[in-house]
Amino acid sequence: MRGRFITLEGGEGVGKSTQMDAVRAWLESRGHRVLTTREPGGTPLSEHIRDLLKGWDGEDMDSDTELLLVFAARNEHLAKRIRPALERGEWVLCDRFTDATYAYQGSGRGIPPARIETLEQWVQGTLRPDLTLLLDVPVALGFERVSGRGEGHDRFEREQRDFFERVRSTYLARATNDPERFRVIDASPLPEQVSEAIRAVLDERHAVWAREHRK
Ligand SMILES: Nc1ncnc2c1ncn2[C@@H]1O[C@H](COP(=O)(O)OP(=O)(O)O)[C@@H](O)[C@H]1O
Ligand SMILES: [Mg+2]
Repeated sequence: MRGRFITLEGGEGVGKSTQMDAVRAWLESRGHRVLTTREPGGTPLSEHIRDLLKGWDGEDMDSDTELLLVFAARNEHLAKRIRPALERGEWVLCDRFTDATYAYQGSGRGIPPARIETLEQWVQGTLRPDLTLLLDVPVALGFERVSGRGEGHDRFEREQRDFFERVRSTYLARATNDPERFRVIDASPLPEQVSEAIRAVLDERHAVWAREHRK
């Protein structure tokens, strides 16, 4: 079976980082080689851009500059890590991808989606995730979890509540519009219960992919 491209999405504190290991373990238990990575980031240069995006504290960054930096990081990541891994037959598991751009730079910052589509087309061509697990919790719960994580707040985490409400509703709307690719996971319960829900989705999708492979 060819390697698939799986993304984990959702706002701050939904539990993406926490669940990465569970997804990875599930894939490895099926005998797949897995590249786990994240966006923005995933290569040394892209991680530099991530630091810039999150840590910049000079004069306000223009939202188009932010968008272009996100796609510059993504281009590097695709060229150096994601595409080569998929070509080697590995599975790629990525903590956030272009859905996050529509949610954060699109709805969050107010950039028209058509502008993002242009860059998506340019940088990704036809490449889209095979499966996107959208972890969803109410914004307030995500906030509670992030403050429990005990780190400082980056440029995004300092945004106001309504920014994150827009991010969440955009994620959910994208999931509704593309039910083939998305699975929405209620990420409010205990981590182990969330992992169980994710494994159920992986079982279901994996069976479909295996059938396609045998055809
Ligand atoms: N299902 C859960 N229930 C309670 N706390 C959780 C759950 N999942 C993650 N956490 C905790 O919430 C915080 C944010 O989780 P994290 O995985 O870092 O979220 P994200 O990567 O989506 O921002 C961490 O301290 C983590 O231990
Ligand atoms: Mg995380």
